[in-house]
Amino acid sequence: MIPDILQETSHFHIPVMVDEVLDLLITDRQGIYLDGTVGLGGHATYILNALSDSARLLGLDRDEKALAICKERLSGSGAFSCHHHSYNTFPLLLKQEGITRVNGILLDLGLSSYQLDSNRGFSFQNTGDLDMRFDSTTGQTAMQLIHQTSADDLADIFYNFGEERLSRRIAKSVKDMDSIESIEDLKEAVRRSTPPKNRQKTLARIFQSLRIAVNSELDRLQNFLDSFIEFLTPGGRIVIISYHSLEDRMVKHRFKDLKKEKKFTVLTKKPLQPTKEEQTENNRSRSAKLRAGERI
Ligand SMILES: C[S@@+](CC[C@H](N)C(=O)[O-])C[C@H]1O[C@@H](n2cnc3c(N)ncnc32)[C@H](O)[C@@H]1O
Repeated sequence: MIPDILQETSHFHIPVMVDEVLDLLITDRQGIYLDGTVGLGGHATYILNALSDSARLLGLDRDEKALAICKERLSGSGAFSCHHHSYNTFPLLLKQEGITRVNGILLDLGLSSYQLDSNRGFSFQNTGDLDMRFDSTTGQTAMQLIHQTSADDLADIFYNFGEERLSRRIAKSVKDMDSIESIEDLKEAVRRSTPPKNRQKTLARIFQSLRIAVNSELDRLQNFLDSFIEFLTPGGRIVIISYHSLEDRMVKHRFKDLKKEKKFTVLTKKPLQPTKEEQTENNRSRSAKLRAGERI
């Protein structure tokens, strides 16, 4: 059962650049597709509508709570299956399913509004423990990471993943606190070490950088980029939506390299961005950048 609260549309994630995704991703209505970050199934719903009944869509996510909701929402479609799996290890899943290649892969990186609105530590606007794991069945929470990381390494996380200029000062303040367990504790450490002006933005950068570190987001993306091409059929497509400049740069460079190796055609010379209307309707879409390509 989907909890009542999630049935309210405000708690559902609004999928980003749906028309662009469908246009670029689907080349064969009867093909096999992989949504590597299916979340609550926003894009997946539209993809399934565009595919024929004999097609297949595998939806993957590390968040088992989101997947349970997604499963419930899309249970009516025989073409769909969902899997608690990280997208970077999708070749293992294909092997289990007896699939050698797929016609298209979608990655919509980052986190969903459902996660942001939860009390799992992703947002400084909520209260709760500092968890931040997409997959709450494994790995270190943000609180554990903070406790086990030196001030210097913490500062590097804030600087590298959050582009936070006051990284050293904030990291020292975090380590000087008696203990950091909750969202409130981390906010207090930031409050003690930064000027009030633009503090909301500072908090957003600090929370984002910890989330990226906790979930090894960049390592997983690089790992995926290094291997996906072999699992696309010739003419098959990859579509990646990123919300962080570091991620977009990684995608851009890998696409360029694959083009040089004559394995790949880049379909988006420049990244596509949501229209002004979409940005107004869906604030979260503002930083989205979409890149797509096709296996030769
Ligand atoms: C922006 S949301 C996707 C929303 C989805 N496209 C929709 O329209 O509903 C990103 C999702 O990626 C998931 N995620 C992040 N890293 C992942 C990984 N390495 N493997 C699989 N899923 C991941 C998150 O748990 C989250 O549900």
